[in-house]
Amino acid sequence: MVEGDGKKYMGSSGKSQAIRPRKRLSFVTYPIQYVLEEQRLVCLLIGIGIASLIFTAVPALTSSSSSSTPNHHGWIPDSLMESTHHVPRRIALELSDYDRDQSSNGVARLPVGLKNKRLRVLVTGGAGFVGSHLVDRLMERGDSVIVVDNFFTGRKDNLVHHFSNPRFELIRHDVVEPIMLEVDQIYHLACPASPVHYKYNPVKTIKTNVMGTLNMLGLAKRINARFLLTSTSEVYGDPLEHPQVETYWGNVNPIGVRSCYDEGKRTAETLTMDYHRGLNIEVRIARIFNTYGPRMCIDDGRVVSNFVAQALRKEPLTVYGDGKQTRSFQYVSDLVEGLMRLMEGDHVGPFNLGNPGEFTMLELAKVVQDTIDPNAKIEFRENTADDPHKRKPDISKAKKLLGWEPKVSLREGLPLMVSDFRRRIFGDEKDAQGSQKLAE
Ligand SMILES: NC(=O)c1ccc[n+]([C@@H]2O[C@H](COP(=O)([O-])OP(=O)(O)OC[C@H]3O[C@@H](n4cnc5c(N)ncnc54)[C@H](O)[C@@H]3O)[C@@H](O)[C@H]2O)c1
Repeated sequence: MVEGDGKKYMGSSGKSQAIRPRKRLSFVTYPIQYVLEEQRLVCLLIGIGIASLIFTAVPALTSSSSSSTPNHHGWIPDSLMESTHHVPRRIALELSDYDRDQSSNGVARLPVGLKNKRLRVLVTGGAGFVGSHLVDRLMERGDSVIVVDNFFTGRKDNLVHHFSNPRFELIRHDVVEPIMLEVDQIYHLACPASPVHYKYNPVKTIKTNVMGTLNMLGLAKRINARFLLTSTSEVYGDPLEHPQVETYWGNVNPIGVRSCYDEGKRTAETLTMDYHRGLNIEVRIARIFNTYGPRMCIDDGRVVSNFVAQALRKEPLTVYGDGKQTRSFQYVSDLVEGLMRLMEGDHVGPFNLGNPGEFTMLELAKVVQDTIDPNAKIEFRENTADDPHKRKPDISKAKKLLGWEPKVSLREGLPLMVSDFRRRIFGDEKDAQGSQKLAE
């Protein structure tokens, strides 16, 4: 039995025993013990106050010093840096949602001891022609790059110069299967692009476009990454409007031999917009027009690579149909610049990225003859099904909103590609090194 303030209690023996009252400490004789025992609440409150002061002051110092860190986007003109400055870029500081929520004045605070990290970028299809040039630029600006590729049309050779760089990773993976990675941006390029390759296994092509894009959008959603889709001018089909503006919905055969690619890309665009509207994913869409340059697959059926390889091998240049169908040809460095501006900018798109300079196939053959072999012969063949008659981008939107336009003309770009093809066809290393320097 316990009574009152310990005056009496029943011991195990059953006898009641007196309790001696606890002696109160005096502040004068035992000041430290007095404070610790008698004023514990006050001590606790003071401790909390000091801790809050430290946590508020130290990260503020950290973030103010980070503002003087040079940005690694030196390649972007100042004008673009100004326009992208206010883009919410978790990527620049690697902030978690928690960090962002905690930053009351919009200035991001990093936890003590966590340094600003590099941008982590995933490039699907990065071992291919366009992808490998994009990887070069991303590596050059200091990002950490992960390439995911199944090597259907891509080659390790295109990336071998990055293998020893710890900022670079290459993963053999098919985008039709899901993959879990932690990145800030996803450039989704994985898809065979030339008719020879995409018609080789049409079911696989549409699977890559639909399931591959779904998987990458799902990944973007899970990790809150920004997603860029490389769509194509083929979404305009055989266009009834010329030049093609982004608002044109196209004239596409849904059941033709090219539909696996054309309709696949159209569906990929639909998925991208639905993830954006419905799930608030940050997305970008580029509609790429014919692009050429070093590292294109030799003999992939695309007209520029065909003509160049044929002229080098002293074979006749094959022109399909009457050769009066037109195309516009963009050098790969111009495209990569456009893709990066689109990713860093504020606008979803779609944006046409292409060179508006329009050439008939016969005019292109003439440029190839002038560049490689003036005596190269031309051979006419029957045209392929659903081959569009005209193709020319209207790039006003990209000019206005991305501040982008192509810089390299066909007559400037073709020799750079010729040197690369010459090396790969004949093993002429010396010539290729020269062209690589020029391309840079
Ligand atoms: N080059 C052009 O003129 C052009 C024009 C319009 C659109 N595009 C688009 O740009 C992107 C790149 O084109 P490119 O010219 O570099 O083509 P490419 O064939 O050289 O590159 C495509 C890359 O994707 C990889 N790939 C294909 N299917 C894959 C899969 N299921 N999983 C993982 N990787 C896969 C290939 O191995 C290759 O490395 C494509 O999406 C293409 O549709 C290109």
